[in-house]
Amino acid sequence: MAKTGKPKQMEGEVYYPSEQVIAQARLKDWDALAEKAEKDLEGFWAEEASELEWFKKWDKVLDDSNKPFYKWFVGAKTNIVHNAIDRHLKTHRKNQLALIWESEDGKEERTFSYYAMNREVSRMANIIKAMGVSKGDRVTIYMGRVPEIVFAMLACAKIGAIHSVVFGGFSVDSLQGRIEDSRSKLVITCDGAYQNGKIVELKAIVDEALKRCPTVENVIVVKRVGQQVGMEAGRDHWYHDMLNLPIANGKCPTEEMDAEDPLFILYTSGSTGKPKAILHTHGGYMVGTYSTLKYVFDVNDMDRWWCTADPGWITGHSYIVYGPMINGVTSMLFEGGPAYPYPNRWWQVIERFGITIFYTAPTAIRGLMRFGESWPQKHDLSSLRLLGTVGEPINPEAWKWYNRVIGKEKCPIIDTWWQTETGMFMITPTPVVPLKPGSGTRPFFGQKAEIVDEQGNPAPDDTEGYLTLLKPWPAMLRTIYGDDERYVNQYWSKYPGRYTTGDSAKRDKDGYFWIIGRVDDVIKVSGHRLGTAEVESALVSHPAVAEAAAIGLPHDVKGQAIHTFVLLRTGHAPSPELAEELRQHVATHMGPIARPEDVKFVDKLPKTRSGKIMRRVLKARAQGLPEGDISTLEE
Ligand code: WT7
Repeated sequence: MAKTGKPKQMEGEVYYPSEQVIAQARLKDWDALAEKAEKDLEGFWAEEASELEWFKKWDKVLDDSNKPFYKWFVGAKTNIVHNAIDRHLKTHRKNQLALIWESEDGKEERTFSYYAMNREVSRMANIIKAMGVSKGDRVTIYMGRVPEIVFAMLACAKIGAIHSVVFGGFSVDSLQGRIEDSRSKLVITCDGAYQNGKIVELKAIVDEALKRCPTVENVIVVKRVGQQVGMEAGRDHWYHDMLNLPIANGKCPTEEMDAEDPLFILYTSGSTGKPKAILHTHGGYMVGTYSTLKYVFDVNDMDRWWCTADPGWITGHSYIVYGPMINGVTSMLFEGGPAYPYPNRWWQVIERFGITIFYTAPTAIRGLMRFGESWPQKHDLSSLRLLGTVGEPINPEAWKWYNRVIGKEKCPIIDTWWQTETGMFMITPTPVVPLKPGSGTRPFFGQKAEIVDEQGNPAPDDTEGYLTLLKPWPAMLRTIYGDDERYVNQYWSKYPGRYTTGDSAKRDKDGYFWIIGRVDDVIKVSGHRLGTAEVESALVSHPAVAEAAAIGLPHDVKGQAIHTFVLLRTGHAPSPELAEELRQHVATHMGPIARPEDVKFVDKLPKTRSGKIMRRVLKARAQGLPEGDISTLEE
């Protein structure tokens, strides 16, 4: 993106799309479509949905008679896998690549055409069915970044089972809580996963978690690292053994689903208590991910699309697996991380596979920036045509580095704001939208966002407030699985008629949105969403800890880092060793991403008179900022 003249007067630093970008773009007139969608929301989405295949068409596009329990494509029958795989088998896409995978060490490469994808997914689907899993049953998937994680998700969807992917970086407690809450019948895992040359013992973690999960009847184990693992007779099954069974053939019918039938649940951290199971459905989520990827990243059959997220997060669900495959593009899945063994690893992958669109997180860009420009300069990155970012606000320095060093000033930077709950991009440019570094620009077609104050009054331009959404959208969460009440309270109660995002933001005079950060007790560590409550409960599970508080503070690379305050039980004395032990304790229980930056021992935690920890006060103190309203603080 070059900073050039101004077709339209806008304030601040603006980067306009080049003529070449505009010439290439499928959608040139953003305003016209935005206007059309604004005038006729249902018409817009009906048109989008019509580009996909349905076993039976809908009777009604949107049913909002029981708000906030919105329904989309009511009465329609489909299956997301029918559109992600089956429909492509009738076209030239059949023999195009659906997935390219490269191993962390770069020595292995596996590719799957849509035809091959159908075979692999069908085989896994048949195996899962043979284990007694049927429509509506939950399956927990806890794996590394290998092609089988994609097969597993799609196999569940194909037979109508509900997948619940747990990020492979989580550990025993997080996994156990999620298996238990979802009452999964089956767990699909790997013997282990490679991470920066070391092995994460996934199967051992599953074994530990299952000691407390009575609902699980079977475990399928995909061999990846080849080390010895315990296999419990009758419960645990090697995937490669099962592939030899006659039932594991490449033909499996795709279940006809109601548009509103559950597709998956995905746990995410909220303000309080345990993680919430966000529920997405076959029909609406399918249309939302399809349409957003099509317009926002303008994907086509020539693209090599690479989203660097883990499939275990919503970004991976929507934009490694479902969105790309529904669009029939080739999606890259890379097993490793950006800097192992050297900080050129991602640039190497881009060059090797001719990646055309690259979508990553600000934290990764900041991390790679630190290693200097010489690493990307060793590689031919000229295949790139678009860049994207997601997960947290991108600081203008990182944006500019990304634009100049990676995009060579010719690739628009698509800053996409969205959430696990939204399922799809919500505030985002398309390639033809003028950009301002650090802003996700404007709401996607059919959406209306508004910044409001505490009372719900629209805030003036350039004033910080709560970000809310006014219109329903097809990929919206339908509920918190098993807890409708919490769904209503969490998202729809603070401002009736509006979806509360949990973010604070500003809107500028050009209508561009600037996200500031979470206003609830969610910490974003390297773009990963963690709840203070989860970190605190991991800490108090240690015998030395009486009470604990966790907060997020700014961090140069991670965006935010976890800082904790601990009150010890009598008989335990503060020491650097104990602090270290507690950090490790959290990492062991929750996963390495949750390891606190530091542990401070305190005699007292600031609390309200009703006994709630005032994290806001801790945060202000730690940063030397004013403590704000402390009238509710106890003596
Ligand atoms: C939260 C949602 C769905 C994407 C992965 C994260 C923050 C997300 C941006 C962005 C500024 C962003 C928000 C949001 N966030 N994208 N482009 N600019 N902030 O999904 O884990 O559900 O987290 O991530 O705070 O509420 P998530």
